[in-house]
Amino acid sequence: MKVATIVIMLVAASPSALGRKLLQDGCADFSALASVPEVSDIVSIINGFGLLPGGIPSNVTVFLPNNDAVAALLAGVPFPGLTVESLPSRAASLPASLGVVERLISALLYHIVPGGAWEPEALVAEGTLPTALEEVHPGFGLQFAEVGPANYTVTTVADEVASTSDPVLACGSAVYVIDKVLVPATGLLDPAFPLTTLDEALAVLGGGSLPAAPAPAP
Ligand SMILES: *[C@@H]1O[C@H](CO)[C@@H](O)[C@H](O)[C@H]1NC(C)=O
Ligand SMILES: *[C@@H]1O[C@H](CO)[C@@H](O)[C@H](O)[C@H]1NC(C)=O
Repeated sequence: MKVATIVIMLVAASPSALGRKLLQDGCADFSALASVPEVSDIVSIINGFGLLPGGIPSNVTVFLPNNDAVAALLAGVPFPGLTVESLPSRAASLPASLGVVERLISALLYHIVPGGAWEPEALVAEGTLPTALEEVHPGFGLQFAEVGPANYTVTTVADEVASTSDPVLACGSAVYVIDKVLVPATGLLDPAFPLTTLDEALAVLGGGSLPAAPAPAP
């Protein structure tokens, strides 16, 4: 076989040839996502609140709202002049009883499907999948459907529909950019929206790219 043929076969088999980029370095500090500028604001928020201290979790499927989706969410929060940068300090000034951080953690877990870097075809074939939030609070799945080529919808339990395309592969995980924040209740601070502690989240995510905690004895 000619070398050129082998090179063409390798290129054809690579993820980028399938419309998926492969990103590997910078998992602990999120810089692996620097080449996906449309998710920079949600990454800033995750870092600002320290929601993923282990960095980008590996071997999961994660849906990251784009900057327009984050701006739309912030515009709906009744604090004038709220920005991505000022959000953590503004949130810290709110009463702990509102559970802002615990509800943000719940929201984050709702954007993660554990159990591998799912390809779109596999998500659509499954139809509905449990999210990481479901491991702490049952009843929070996400539903997937194909709309057209490289065009899929993600539907929440509250029937909110987000649009997405093929994923970016980063840190052994599939990262889908979505055009809406998936808040499964009527709003993030709705008392009905569950509270999740950072410890619970880390237990579900195995500490992200940190060494996973040993499994408890059966
Ligand atoms: C990813 O998770 C799936 C489901 O738990 C498992 O079967 C697979 O071996 C894992 N892959 C890696 C690379 O850890
Ligand atoms: C998917 O298709 C719908 C309807 O044609 C369109 O509005 C939307 O922008 C598309 N989304 C993507 C990610 O291509």
